[in-house]
Amino acid sequence: DWTMEAYRAEAVKKIREQVGDRKVICALSGGVDSSVAAVLLHEAIGENLTCVFVDHGLLRLNEAEEVVAMFRDHMNLRVIHAQEQDLFLGALEGVSDPEVKRKTIGKLFIDVFQRYAGEIEGAEFLAQGTLYPDVIESVSFSGGPSVTIKSHHNVGGLPEKMGLKLVEPLRELFKDEVRELGRELGLPPHFIGRHPFPGPGLAIRCPGEITREKLDILRKADAVYIDQIRKHGLYDEIWQAFVAILPVRTVGVMGDGRTYDFACALRAVTSVDGMTADYYPFSHDFLGETATRIINEVRGINRVTYDITSKPPGTIEWE
Ligand code: XMP
Repeated sequence: DWTMEAYRAEAVKKIREQVGDRKVICALSGGVDSSVAAVLLHEAIGENLTCVFVDHGLLRLNEAEEVVAMFRDHMNLRVIHAQEQDLFLGALEGVSDPEVKRKTIGKLFIDVFQRYAGEIEGAEFLAQGTLYPDVIESVSFSGGPSVTIKSHHNVGGLPEKMGLKLVEPLRELFKDEVRELGRELGLPPHFIGRHPFPGPGLAIRCPGEITREKLDILRKADAVYIDQIRKHGLYDEIWQAFVAILPVRTVGVMGDGRTYDFACALRAVTSVDGMTADYYPFSHDFLGETATRIINEVRGINRVTYDITSKPPGTIEWE
């Protein structure tokens, strides 16, 4: 009968048959799919796999360092940390249209990946964390015209353009099976249970123009919010939770003084597949405590709101 242990051994064997002793590159996003694909490939071919982690400057607090440290230092993968924050943030300067943000980021992502991958001597294969549902319905899973991280990674036409063959070791699996395979391969449970994170990252959680100042504030507020959710044991009940920093300053009081700082919105939803979603019914105590913590701990925010829109008619992200 079928076990994940047997599947793992079979998958390793298949990768070795396909790739032999040739070299493979992959884009590591820190998401579950690309992570499981990378670890499985590493088990099969070791040093012949090189991962490129593109850091676009739109990641959460400490995210890049944590992902790179885990794969490089803890799991011994060869990981190139492409520090391209200035490139992406420079290109996004003055951009406020959500789809222009997505296109700008998606295009640069491919350019950057190609540039780093081009420096890896003798690479013949591109690995992707394509899942079975991606194979049967190769449409955007967000239900909109979005460029998804999948479409960044399942970069249509890129393998041919770069003269690479594809390796897709998760092609037969559903999401829950990928998580199980990840556990089987020794990825930490907190990593496997992480909420989905969009390819354009914080860019679409910063409605309007993106500035480094807003991104810094957003990262800190988001970290406090997620910490609250974990402390109250709610993380695994929620599909996605994040903060959006709003393009508006409001007046507040602090001690004897008056503040004029950004407002933010907390978002948390339950969902099965991201296509529809309900807002999460936090207790008022939880919301009050979280608002107090964010305002006390994050300089630059003086007002906190909770987004109670479901999808439809809202979307999960703010942009
Ligand atoms: P929305 O906001 O459309 O989001 O209700 C549905 C799911 O898709 C994610 N999302 C994206 N993922 N690139 C991505 O990789 C994108 O451009 C993008 N837009 C939305 C969102 O986080 C949610 O899980």
